[in-house]
Amino acid sequence: MLKNAKGELKYTMTSNDFIKEIQSKLKTDTFGQGYIFYSESIDSTNIKAKELANEGHQEGTVIIADSQSKGKGRKGRHWFSPGKTGIYMSLILKPPIIPSEAQKITLITAVAIAEVLKYYAGIDVRIKWPNDILVNNKKLAGILTEINTTKDSINYIIVGMGINVNTPLESMPSEIRDIATSILIETNKEMEKWDIVKVILESFERYYNKFLNNGFADILEEWKRLSQIMGSKIKVDLEKGSIEGEVVEVDKDGFLIIRDSDGNDEKIIAGDVSFIE
Ligand code: BTN
Repeated sequence: MLKNAKGELKYTMTSNDFIKEIQSKLKTDTFGQGYIFYSESIDSTNIKAKELANEGHQEGTVIIADSQSKGKGRKGRHWFSPGKTGIYMSLILKPPIIPSEAQKITLITAVAIAEVLKYYAGIDVRIKWPNDILVNNKKLAGILTEINTTKDSINYIIVGMGINVNTPLESMPSEIRDIATSILIETNKEMEKWDIVKVILESFERYYNKFLNNGFADILEEWKRLSQIMGSKIKVDLEKGSIEGEVVEVDKDGFLIIRDSDGNDEKIIAGDVSFIE
């Protein structure tokens, strides 16, 4: 592992270099080709992305930070966002879809990140519905999708991605040490995180365009393969209470259908999934 004299992880490229470099090398048409907002330290890239989207910034705008003081996870949880060792990135999207389809964007992002982790970092991940990227049941990345609507139309969607790249186990707070992991922990190799940002933008754009041009069905099949969730017995913690059952379908919009012990099917729009066996 590369470290400087103070024992801090050392990077070969600074962040400003990255913005210049990435825009010259990035093989995308939209994402990262316009405005890239970069900050060394920010409250949350999703919060900044919403501000920029409200000011009229366009689809493809990228917001990225080296650390977050109020990194947001799902359900109001905190996302551990220490300096420089992770990717904290949000994208502004303005897709021509209706609000009930927004869930698909989370699943598309998960497939794009999983592809990069497999082919770029050599890590096989499992996706846990809807947005957890896991290795041996430990979370390596998470996605927070936030949607802004007027009546029945989408003004914009913010897709926030948090990926633990060069995060050593000993730097993780004790409460997440048993449930979180990083590329470094899984491979014992430090990676240049800006290179990963580049390939994630490319992978995301490819899947996003595929969705807009050809529909969701093929991406959903890929998501199902990566999730290995079909037929699993799961418990879902809901806003109020919980429900157990077997996953019988992930429907065409990306929602879970589970069958309880009485044979009733229940559609799950949001919740925390854990596997029973
Ligand atoms: C989760 O799994 O709970 C979602 C985690 C999402 C974290 C990312 S980091 C970049 C973006 N900005 C945030 O404040 N959150 C998301």
